[in-house]
Amino acid sequence: MRKLVVLTGAGMSAESGIKTFRDSGGLWEEYDVMEVASVMGWQKNRDLVLRFYNERRRQLARVKPNAGHVGLAELEKYFEVWIITQNVDNLHERAGSSRVIHLHGELTKARSTADPSLIYDIGYKDINPGDKCEKGSQLRPHIVWFGEPVPLMDEAARITTTANIFAIIGTSLNVYPAAGLIAYAPAETPVYLIDPGDVYLPSGRKVEVIKEKASAGVAILKEKLLRKFIEIKREE
Ligand code: APR
Repeated sequence: MRKLVVLTGAGMSAESGIKTFRDSGGLWEEYDVMEVASVMGWQKNRDLVLRFYNERRRQLARVKPNAGHVGLAELEKYFEVWIITQNVDNLHERAGSSRVIHLHGELTKARSTADPSLIYDIGYKDINPGDKCEKGSQLRPHIVWFGEPVPLMDEAARITTTANIFAIIGTSLNVYPAAGLIAYAPAETPVYLIDPGDVYLPSGRKVEVIKEKASAGVAILKEKLLRKFIEIKREE
């Protein structure tokens, strides 16, 4: 009765100072997504792609988790919390969350272009042209680019099928398969959505909307869930 699964997106990290993608002033206003976040972009201009992710990795070293990340980590005292994130930053982990699945990869990791099983922790260091894996091939960001498969989606879906509570925080639900995760939550599982903006949700699903930024929204969610937790304890 106590499994909380949370799908997070770029809005989760907005208050930490990391740009979202599709809000006004978002990353995709500054860059052509297909040039910096697609296989074609990598083939066309590898150095531009490396610079794009180097800039984001350097910024990640300078920012820190916000109260929303911390609030989710604190819920681990009462629930089995799974964070399924579209974000490539490490702010959930740095806030203390212990079960984090990165559907779209991780900024702090590099991967061999010859052997995708060769993945290296690089922290906040740059990846430069000529940086090679142990098999001598160029390293690339360990990011899922548009047009690439999402290897962890099956695991994320399986985890969601046994969620007792499901929350969606800071995502426009524009990108599949991540946006389709809600469909795996059991019909009787309550769903909460935290977002200051309006998010289109598939019809037929009752969702409790908390129209707030992540920090304020997680505090409200935490209060609601702790009331639920006390009821569960009474029934046990
Ligand atoms: N707190 C919570 N939500 C916020 C905040 C905030 N402070 N600020 C903005 N938001 C919301 C926006 O209203 C929007 O619904 O966060 C969402 C951000 O949406 P996107 O920019 O589309 O980001 P996301 O949904 O994570 O994008 C999904 O697209 O480009 C790809 O791979 C990339 O993982 C990314 C995927």
